[in-house]
Order: sequence, then C-alpha cells, then structure tokens
Amino acid sequence: MATKLALSLSMLMGLSSLIFIHVYGDNFNHFNDNNDVGDHSHQYVSSTTHFLERMRKMQVLKASFLRRDLAVDSSISAPPGPAPQPPPLQGKSGPRVYRATSYGADPTGKSDSTEALLRAISDAFNGPSEGSLMDGISNLGGAQIHLEGGNYMISKPLRLPAAGAGNLLIHGGTLRASDNFPTDGYLIDLSASSSSLYIYEFITLKDLMLDSNFRGGGISVVKSLRTSIDNCYITHFTTNGIFVQSGHETYIRNSFLGQHITAGGDRGERNFSGTAINLMGNDNAVTDVVIFSANIGIMVSGQANTLSGVHCYNKATGFGGTGIYLKLPNLTQTRIVNSYMDYTGIVAEDPVQLHISSSFFLGDAHILLKSINGVAKGVNIVDNMFSGSNKGVEIVQLDQSNGPFKEIDQVVVDRNNVRGMNLKATVGRGSVQGNGTSWTVDFSPLLLFPDLIKHVQYSLSSAGTAFPNHALRNVSRNRVVIESNVAVPASVFVTVDQGVQTS
Ligand SMILES: *[C@@H]1O[C@H](CO)[C@@H](O)[C@H](O)[C@H]1NC(C)=O
Ligand SMILES: *[C@@H]1O[C@H](CO)[C@@H](O)[C@H](O)[C@H]1NC(C)=O
Ligand SMILES: *[C@@H]1O[C@H](CO)[C@@H](O)[C@H](O)[C@H]1NC(C)=O
Ligand SMILES: *[C@@H]1O[C@H](CO)[C@@H](O)[C@H](O)[C@H]1NC(C)=O
Repeated sequence: MATKLALSLSMLMGLSSLIFIHVYGDNFNHFNDNNDVGDHSHQYVSSTTHFLERMRKMQVLKASFLRRDLAVDSSISAPPGPAPQPPPLQGKSGPRVYRATSYGADPTGKSDSTEALLRAISDAFNGPSEGSLMDGISNLGGAQIHLEGGNYMISKPLRLPAAGAGNLLIHGGTLRASDNFPTDGYLIDLSASSSSLYIYEFITLKDLMLDSNFRGGGISVVKSLRTSIDNCYITHFTTNGIFVQSGHETYIRNSFLGQHITAGGDRGERNFSGTAINLMGNDNAVTDVVIFSANIGIMVSGQANTLSGVHCYNKATGFGGTGIYLKLPNLTQTRIVNSYMDYTGIVAEDPVQLHISSSFFLGDAHILLKSINGVAKGVNIVDNMFSGSNKGVEIVQLDQSNGPFKEIDQVVVDRNNVRGMNLKATVGRGSVQGNGTSWTVDFSPLLLFPDLIKHVQYSLSSAGTAFPNHALRNVSRNRVVIESNVAVPASVFVTVDQGVQTS
C-alpha cells in the first residue's frame, strides 16, 4: 500500500516537473527570439537538452501506459509480439472497467468463474488509486468490476483483498454458488481479516442477482464504511442473505431477498429458514426492501439502524417466523417507519429507544415486546394500522416468560387503528354512568401493561341536586374506581396513562 502510494506520488511529481520545464523552455525561447542571445546562450542550450531528455522519458512513460491500456481490454486485439508482463493492468488515463469476460469468466454459468472474477477484483485493487479515503483505504477512483449481464457460477466466495480500498463498483450480472460452495461462505465477501478498524469504504454492489444455491449466504460486509447494496435480488441463502458486522453505514436499498422464490402463501412456507438481513453493526439503513421468504426477515443487534419502506412477507408469525427481530436488550435505538408487515411481525427484546410508526400490519401481524430483564423505556408505537381476522389478536403483546416488565418509562402506544384485531395502548380514555357512590372504569382490556397506571385524570358530572364529595380510590389491575360520600346519578370521565415519566 505505502509503496504503491509512494510510487504514484513520485510519478505525479515527475510529470509536474516535466510540465514546469516545458513551460520554462517555451518562455525561454520567446525571450531569446526577441532579444540578443549573449550570455544566455549557454543556459539555453543546457536547458533545452534537459528538456529534450525529459520529453523522451515522458514519452517512454506514456507509451508504457498505452500498452497497459491495450492489454486490459481484450476486445481490442493486442498486436502480435511479447505479451506484456505482468498481466492486465489499467492505465492511469484509461478506463477502469474490469470486465468479467476479459478475464475468462464464463457468462453462461457452465464453468467455474471464481478464479477469473478474483483476478478482475485483484487487478481493480492493484490498479491506479488517487490518494485515500479514510486513513489506510486507498481511493480506486470509481473502478468497476463489470459482470456484463452474465450469469457466473462460483465455487468460492469472491472475497475482496485485505488491502484497504474503496470507491469501487461491482455490478451488472448474476453470481450463483456451485454445488460445492462452502456452506459458511458468502458469494461476495467484504470481510478480510485485518487489524484495521475499517478495511473498505464506499464499495457499491449494484444490479446483481445473487443465488446462494442453498449453500451459505449472499453478501458479507464486515468492518466497512459507507457500503451500498442497491437493486440486488438475493435468493436461496441458508445462512444470511446480507450480513453486516462492525463498520457503519451499510445502505441496503431497492432490493429483494428471499430464501425461496415465492409470491407468498407458499405451501412450503413452514420450511423457510435463514435470515434475509442480519445487521450486527451500527448506523445502517434498510430502505425500500422486500423480504419474501426467510425465517427472520431482518435481525438487528446493532444500534442506530433505521428501517424504512420494508415489506416483510417472509415466514408468517403463525408458523413461527419473524419479520423484524430487534435483539438489542436495554439499548435498542432503532427506527422502523413506513413499513409493511405482512402476516409477519416485529419482536423487540427489552426495548430502550424504539420508534415504530406509519406502518401497516396485515394478517394479525403484531408487535411483541419480550422481557429479558424487564426493561421498556422510550418506546413509541404510534400512528400505525393493524388489520386482522377477528381472532382477538392484540396489536402489541408482552412476552413476560423471563419475568415481568418492571422498569417501564416513557412507553407510548397510541393513535394506532385496528380492524379485526384487539387494540392495545398505554393511554386510555373511558367513561361510565351510574346512580350511587362508586364508579369503575375498567381499562384492563385496553392497557398494555397489566396493573400499571401512572397518571389519572377524571371528572364527575352530576345533574342531581346534591354536590357530593368524590375521590379517586383505586387503580389496581388497571381498574379506576371513583367514590362519592352520597349516592348521586353521575357520569365519570377518566383518562389514564401508563407511560408518563414519574420522576
Ligand atoms: C418441508 O420439509 C420437510 C423436510 O425437510 C419435507 O419432508 C416436506 O416435504 C417439506 N414440505 C414442503 C411443503 O415443502
Ligand atoms: C440498562 O442500561 C442502563 C444504562 O446504561 C444500566 O444502568 C442498567 O443497569 C441496564 N439494565 C440492565 C438490566 O442491563
Ligand atoms: C338514584 O337512586 C336513588 C335511590 O338510591 C333514587 O331515589 C333516584 O331516583 C335515582 N335517580 C335516578 C336518576 O335514577
Ligand atoms: C384496590 O382494589 C383491589 C382489588 O381490585 C383491592 O385488592 C385493594 O385492596 C384495593 N385497594 C384499596 C386501597 O382499597
């Protein structure tokens, strides 16, 4: 890396000094044209000699670049003669499109293209670079690995070299795992082992179909910064469609992922396994992505990820599947907005800072808050729509099999609408009419947390002649009891809240 950088720097410096000399020489000529040669003649001659020598060197250098240009694109037939050594390298001035077929990859998918594609990747990494992105990550200047619309069979992961590099695009074709592909591998693998904090930056994987052939996963992104996965169709994975770990800002967008190719309602749906997207890092975004089959659609175990426009219809919740699983107990920091949970729901372990809004839950899909250590803080589940089949499924549920939620603070489940499901909320409004000394409004069917009311407001409205003394007497088991000292006909209006911060 360092050597390469030093070399290109010295080449650049060489070129700039040539340009300087060239300009100087020109000026000197004009000066001599218009003036007496005199004492300047000696200097003129030596400068010109120097200039010519430099020019010669530059031409040699330029020629070497041109040869490399020719060598890289096999569609331009190379002139007969000794093959250039080493094999294809890109010129500084030439295009940096490394075409799969130029390296002998087989676009019909019949023969193994692993080595050819790895050579193309290696050449891209060893090609010209311009300075660096993050420290230690050289800038490949937008080099492209072009799959040229081919369908390539590979028997090993296309693992990017360990040398830190970025500003590279891999695009435009299909990769399919062979029948002997390692079942723990990924078709495209950005996970070289390195002691650096980050290895890759601004790698873009675009317009690709990745077929894992039921052997391993699609894409692995480890210790990478600002990776884009755009318009990809990832199928037949058994582990993860996309795996992200460490690094940050992997942006997954406009993509389709499913273990089996189905349009939903598949007869084999109970058999679906694997995870479509596994985010084990921070600050990633999944936007406008469809997940059509997998045991878990998106598994999140890193903070500050955002999911938007996600449509999950992978294995139905009724068959044990999960649309989105948030496995970050006590520090969730996840936003899920504008998504479509289609027969498959969301599970959040001990949610702390979780926002779910503007989403549509169909087919009894619901949200399950799972207690690990009983913490639920800063949760907004608001402005969503739920639609079900009148089986009494609650829109938000608690799994307290590990123990009850006991640290509950700023949890807001409100303003959701339901059709054919049971509404649950942390905020309730109710009223009751009666003639007597006691009024009870039972919020237990509505409120999410059993036996928790942090805030009550009520008003007692009586048309009778008496003005009774009345008071709030009991909120146990989410039942609000108001009592008066004398019997009166009255209506009592009550508002309760489970989520207000008490301290
Ligand atoms: C589900 O898998 C089992 C065993 O793996 C298999 O016997 C069965 O045929 C599969 N069912 C469907 C509907 O594909
Ligand atoms: C949750 O996180 C808070 C703040 O980081 C910490 O004080 C608390 O002990 C954690 N609770 C559990 C159950 O891990
Ligand atoms: C309320 O109950 C009392 C007796 O307990 C009765 O005298 C009174 O008529 C009742 N008022 C109404 C409005 O029903
Ligand atoms: C409140 O109501 C519950 C039953 O719902 C009862 O067990 C409890 O004793 C009541 N508390 C008071 C202070 O009356």
